[in-house]
Amino acid sequence: MNNRMCEMFGIDVPIFAFSHCRDVVVEVSKAGGLGVLGMARMSPERVREELRWIDEHIGGKPYGIDVLMPTTFEEAAGLKYDPERLFPGEQLSFVRRLLDEAGVPRLPEGEAAHIEQELVSQFNFTPGESARMLEIAMEHPIKLIVNALGSPPAELVARAHARGIKVAALAGAAKHALRHKQAGCDFVIAVGTEAGGHTGQTTSMVLWPRIVDAVAPMPVLGGGGVGRGRQLAAALALGCEGAWCGSIWLKTVQSEVVPEIKAKLFAAGSEDAVLTRSVTGKPCRTLRSSFTDAWDKPGAPPTLPAPLQAILWWGQGRTRVERAHVKDFLTYPVGQLVGDMTQETSVRQVVHDMLDELIETKERLDRVLG
Ligand SMILES: Cc1cc2nc3c(=O)[nH]c(=O)nc-3n(C[C@H](O)[C@H](O)[C@H](O)COP(=O)(O)O)c2cc1C
Repeated sequence: MNNRMCEMFGIDVPIFAFSHCRDVVVEVSKAGGLGVLGMARMSPERVREELRWIDEHIGGKPYGIDVLMPTTFEEAAGLKYDPERLFPGEQLSFVRRLLDEAGVPRLPEGEAAHIEQELVSQFNFTPGESARMLEIAMEHPIKLIVNALGSPPAELVARAHARGIKVAALAGAAKHALRHKQAGCDFVIAVGTEAGGHTGQTTSMVLWPRIVDAVAPMPVLGGGGVGRGRQLAAALALGCEGAWCGSIWLKTVQSEVVPEIKAKLFAAGSEDAVLTRSVTGKPCRTLRSSFTDAWDKPGAPPTLPAPLQAILWWGQGRTRVERAHVKDFLTYPVGQLVGDMTQETSVRQVVHDMLDELIETKERLDRVLG
């Protein structure tokens, strides 16, 4: 294939893979697409380690990184661990009671405190911290920086461009995409509501052409619901110049998800990929669980603002649940594509199947359209 996105990165196919898993990143880039490593909550040491590993395994193919530089997150920096002060009592006691009543053992007091203190520092998205992380990342041959939660700051765009690194950002509405364009992004990623992770309210079918028109002639990637060739064809047909895929990699052997969650993904339908604020404080599409259900019930307290709700879930909920292997409470970000995921495969197979089906679709359309 050959279009502006392929030319921009010297790749064979405009399939961009978001993943928190370095193995997926390497495999997608080696298969001719471009892997982008999600670096949320990574310490500087971990960033160094992950990118060094990628450099050693990717065979010189291009790759990128995805960072969370929110414009509206409350600053978690410097907060000292004290859950009673960090979280208003209502939400903290709601989670503790929920898990106590489900018989999920509490963590030892000292350990819970340690985990949450760690989380507080990991959810530290201050501009200074982000800049430090990016400084380290830029010591590696990254070709792309994607910002997840807002427009990238001007100085970041300038620093990246000075090193030949492209910059992009996710958008769930045309006004966000226009802001990214004004901020100097090289392209935008239009993410429809069916996507896994943080997402807006508008479907890909409606959002993609709207954003394509709004930022033209800037290239756009279509994200949210792309896991097969017909969906990639739809993105191209609607004016996008490639696809941004996240959920589909979760079903691969390379993915980071533990077997218990993978089994839940394979059993889930699209209706189980619910949009909830209960895991991060922002609307995030994730696998329905007893935890997400509890926040939807009448009488549940309002969720906390980001990143406090995420610290509450990870510190008070997720660690307890995972430690005790309580399947009903396990959740993971995933999009509506989950309803089509039934068995494990490899990253390479996903890419090959996508391209095969894309070609079939083109041939079918050629026949239909004469
Ligand atoms: C498990 C998972 C974690 C995600 N975490 C992030 C993240 O940290 N940063 C980000 O920009 N997007 C994140 N996303 C969203 C993806 O970037 C992408 O927008 C989305 O997966 C595309 O839709 P799809 O899930 O239908 O493929 C995540 C998605 C999934 C499935």
